[in-house]
Formats: sequence, C-alpha cells, structure tokens
Amino acid sequence: MLKKIGVIGGGNIGGVLIQEIVRRGLAGCVGLVDILPPELAKGKCLDIAEGTPIIASDVKLVAGKEYSVLAGADMVINTAGVPRKPRPDGTIPSREELLVTNLKITDQVADGIKKHCPGAIIISIANPLDAIVYHLYRKLGHPKAKILGMAGVLDSSRYRYFVAEAAGVSVESVEALVLGGHGDDMVPIRSCCRIAGMPVEKFLSTESLDAIEKRTRGAGAEVVKLLGSGSAFASPAWAALAMAEAIAHDRKKILACCALLEGEYGVDRLFVGVPCILGAGGIERIIEADLNEAERVAFQKSVASVTSTCAEVDKLAP
Ligand code: APR
Repeated sequence: MLKKIGVIGGGNIGGVLIQEIVRRGLAGCVGLVDILPPELAKGKCLDIAEGTPIIASDVKLVAGKEYSVLAGADMVINTAGVPRKPRPDGTIPSREELLVTNLKITDQVADGIKKHCPGAIIISIANPLDAIVYHLYRKLGHPKAKILGMAGVLDSSRYRYFVAEAAGVSVESVEALVLGGHGDDMVPIRSCCRIAGMPVEKFLSTESLDAIEKRTRGAGAEVVKLLGSGSAFASPAWAALAMAEAIAHDRKKILACCALLEGEYGVDRLFVGVPCILGAGGIERIIEADLNEAERVAFQKSVASVTSTCAEVDKLAP
C-alpha cells in the first residue's frame, strides 16, 4: 500500500478519485489540493471523512488550498486544469484548445510537486494530455519511469465497451488497445482487439468496427456534448485508479499509458500512449506492439499531432 496519494484538483475527476482511494484503501492517506475558494478541497474531504465509518475505511484525508497538503505523498494524481465545454454554438473544442490555460495551471502544479513531494510517481490527467505530461517532465526532470499520463486505459475502455455492446458480450471478455496521442487521431489497434482470445473480426463486420473506432476517437467529445458543462469524469478517474492500483500493488499489469519514448516505435523524446508494464517502480517496461501497416501510419499521424502540440508548449514556455 502507498503511504499517501496526493490529488491535485478536487473538481469532477478529483472528487471521484478521492472517494475511490478511500473506498479501496489504496493508500494510508489522501492529500487533496484545490485553489477554489472558499475551501472546496476541505469541503470534499470532510464530506468523505464523515462517511468513512459507514464504508469501514481508516484512510485519512488532508485538504487545503496550499500545496503543502501533498507533503509526504509517494504518488500524485494531477487533475488541475479546465475541462472542455461545448461552445455557445454547440460545437466542441479540441483538447488542444485548452493548452494555453492549462499550461499556466501546470506551472503551479509542477512547483507544488517539486517543493512538497519531489520523489512522487506522477499520473497526470489534465488535457491536452500528452503535452501537459511533456511540460511537467520538462519542469520537474523526473525519472521517466515515474511520470506518466492517463489516457490509453480510458480510450481502450471506451473501445472495449463499444465492441462488447455491439457483439452482445460481457465487457470483461473484450481486450483492446488504443495507442498514440489522446487526441482526435488516437489509434484503436484492431489487430490487438480480441474477444475471449479470438480476433474481433470473427464477431463484428468491418463496417461495424470502422464505426466503433470512429466513435472511440470522438468518445470524449460525445460526453462533453451530452453533459453540456464539462467533460467525462467517472471513467477517467477509474482509468487513473487502475494505473495507481497496478503500481501500489506491484501488479506488473500491462496498461496503455502516456510514456516518454526514447527510440521505441521510432519516436524520440515525446510522451505518447503505448502499452507499459506498471509495477512498484512505475513504468517498468514499454512494450512495442506489432502494428500492421495501416496502424503504423495512423500511429505516425497521431505522433505528428503530439509533436506539433509539444512544439507549441516549447514556444509558450521556452
Ligand atoms: N491548483 C490546484 N487545483 C486547481 C488549479 C491549481 N493551480 N487550477 C485549477 N484547479 C482545480 C479547479 O479549481 C477545479 O476544481 O482543478 C479542478 C478541475 O476540476 P473540473 O473543472 O471539475 O475538471 P475535471 O472534469 O475534473 O477535469 C480536469 O482533466 O480530463 C481532464 O480535460 C480535463 O483538463 C481537465 C482535467
């Protein structure tokens, strides 16, 4: 078990995270920081703390507007940042459009981590995902095993859900992988999608899989449109928790994570979603999946998008 998990940002995703960390007993203590007045973080944590006798949890909660509540954390999950919302005309902005605002917030996040828990493993969720992780890495100089982004677990889960629904099977029977950046050109890897070990094409037609993969790429925007006031929060939080759990319990689980590539997949010094073995050390190994030609081309296109957003980061925060 971890000693303490620091959660940065106590909004929609942060709220689910702290509830689940306490319910699952993932760490001895949770520290929540949120700058929102009057005392959002304290309010959320007090509410949960008062319910701990009901769910028989002895996980302690500390909260505040100051980053000092992160002191002693061996893991930090970062959710600080604005989410997407529909524009007045009903259209949905891209995640990349959050960059300017969320980059400034990430500067505060990095300063807080550096000061109060410099050795913590970082799982970052704020968008645009790959570029924010890249910025955090540049600011913190963390070992690459200890800084990762949550996106692939969520995107793969969305793909799995749509496949299970269409095939009329349990979600548990579907294995899937979505790689690349967490943007509109993320890459669902059909050749890795299996239903109970059998190729997905045995169950679903090409047309149906094409539609499912298109829906997967736009799944975040679909939820933003329906909610009207923000973006998906339960599934992103559960995805980050799956990563945190694999690390906390040294499970050696293979999960798609946004990780620093240094030559793998032909990519150098960029954070992109790839399958990783997660254990006590964080990212213990990056797995190079065998992609077919179409998947390789799609992956390169997605990497090009991440490259251009990171170039923007370099320009905005040289
Ligand atoms: N330090 C700490 N918390 C901050 C800071 C900061 N510098 N700046 C903003 N926050 C807090 C906000 O006060 C808010 O409570 O981050 C919280 C974000 O919560 P929501 O607005 O509910 O957003 P959420 O849906 O949780 O998404 C957070 O994750 O998936 C991404 O695109 C999403 O970038 C967004 C992030």
